[in-house]
Amino acid sequence: MTQLIAGNWKMNGSLAANEALLTALAQGLATPPRAEVAVCVPAPYLAQVRALSAQLPSLEPLQLGAQDVSSQAAGAFTGEVSPSMLKDFGCRYAIVGHSERRQYHGETDALVAEKARQALAHGITPIVCVGESLAEREAGTTVDVVKRQLAAVIQANGHCISEIVLAYEPVWAIGTGKTATPEEAQAVHAVLRAQLKAATPQAERVKILYGGSMNAANAATLLAQPDIDGGLIGGAALKAADFLTIIAAAR
Ligand code: PGA
Repeated sequence: MTQLIAGNWKMNGSLAANEALLTALAQGLATPPRAEVAVCVPAPYLAQVRALSAQLPSLEPLQLGAQDVSSQAAGAFTGEVSPSMLKDFGCRYAIVGHSERRQYHGETDALVAEKARQALAHGITPIVCVGESLAEREAGTTVDVVKRQLAAVIQANGHCISEIVLAYEPVWAIGTGKTATPEEAQAVHAVLRAQLKAATPQAERVKILYGGSMNAANAATLLAQPDIDGGLIGGAALKAADFLTIIAAAR
């Protein structure tokens, strides 16, 4: 399967910085990549990134994504962005259940599952994040935690579960420079794949990304693992050269 390299810009960027980053990416992508490439940008910049991608021909294959989406379709939900609004701006993806949203914004498994359902209902592919904290890993509960998080999404989405992208992001590896070893990551990916297989005959087509301090130096070995179908890249997606190196390492 074609791998997916998705940048997660988080709450970073400005009109000027985004333009510089995309211009540099356009130069690097003059030769079309093997992998599918996406950038998940702060909502106010969706229009800018979409317009620049249209202006810079080599960015044509670049897919656009958001970093969150509402669990509601429309209405009195101040501050929320609906999936149909994202669709209006050409979004293909929306990250849901990122650990920073679970941790700092109190998002529960049930809410994350509902966001995934709402995204799918409006033609947005949710990139559903699961992952254990350091305490959970040390307590030996990694598998229980990620299976519980995925089970909620499977329950809410039924056979549509084959339409999601899943991202395994160990919380202790995010932004810390500590990466799961390729073997550690593969072991959890295999657990997630097995859980998907039990839920749908289409489990093989679900991309399972690894995220958490993936960088230019470690991407190739992580991306070589059989159940790692791409990467969700935070810090390294803000540096064009590093992001391009990761893209080039993907199958
Ligand atoms: P990181 O972030 O690559 O900076 O660790 C990944 C993520 O949070 O999606």
